[in-house]
Amino acid sequence: MIGNIEHLLNTTNDVFQKNELKSIFGQIAAVAQILWDRGWAERNAGNFSINITGFFNAAELDRLSFYPFQPLAKRYPELARTVFLISGTGTRMRDMANNPFENVCCVFVSDSGSAYHLVDDNAAGLSAKPTSELATHLAIQQQLLQKKSLEKVVLHAHVTELIALTQLPPYTSEKAVNSLLWGMHPETILFLPEGVGFIPYTIPGTEDIAVATLKGFEHHKVVLWEKHGCMTVARTLSEAFDNLDILAKSAKIYFLCKSTGQEPEGLNNMQLKEIRDYPQAEPPVYKKPDFSI
Ligand code: 13P
Ligand code: ZN
Repeated sequence: MIGNIEHLLNTTNDVFQKNELKSIFGQIAAVAQILWDRGWAERNAGNFSINITGFFNAAELDRLSFYPFQPLAKRYPELARTVFLISGTGTRMRDMANNPFENVCCVFVSDSGSAYHLVDDNAAGLSAKPTSELATHLAIQQQLLQKKSLEKVVLHAHVTELIALTQLPPYTSEKAVNSLLWGMHPETILFLPEGVGFIPYTIPGTEDIAVATLKGFEHHKVVLWEKHGCMTVARTLSEAFDNLDILAKSAKIYFLCKSTGQEPEGLNNMQLKEIRDYPQAEPPVYKKPDFSI
């Protein structure tokens, strides 16, 4: 079934020499380093998936289907014949920054959408197994395709400031947490006018957390996982980091104010409405190396 594996590896390796993919690996290394530096990726914390299907032609996709496959617990019909770069389970972001090839895997979803081929391309250095949060990543990636979204990246990180916020009972609802985050800094409502979704504590790596998260992403670009971390969707990995960074800034301002013994005033409804109503510039068109697929 596998055929001439050596030929396959060589030809697939050609595929991974594409300049666009090299640029993505560069971005993976850069963002992994920042996540580690921020302390948002202790041990193996955090994971990501990037839909790279657009870089492959039909013949190249056919070749990926020769790799050994793993059945999926659920069928993802819209993901049939899609390709993802996914962070490897148990891998550290600090290692990812030094060597993304060894810490990322490439997954090709089968024609039926009920299995995935692991493109175990030793020639390119890819050998990891997908993150334990694979179910959530695939569910969100499928939702993005259904919405015909330009967003191709899903990122999960343990953003300390946001986890701390979800430990405080008054902020364990979508309404309360958004009102706090928007109030702490004008950029938050400017860049995340739809706010964040809030998922009550659910066991990580389960189908339950995937289902709950999917619901959260119906109307948001960022979802908080109570007492665990957060997940975001974006066009690029850099942009995904930005979404989390903006929110972390707001949370940090809140905790800094509290550390003085005082209660922060927050932006009032009038000020927030002014920002919402202010005409916005078109989002920037990213050039390489900040790729769009
Ligand atoms: P993985 O190493 O399997 O990606 O798990 C990290 C994590 O943050 C789980 O929520
Ligand atoms: Zn996690």
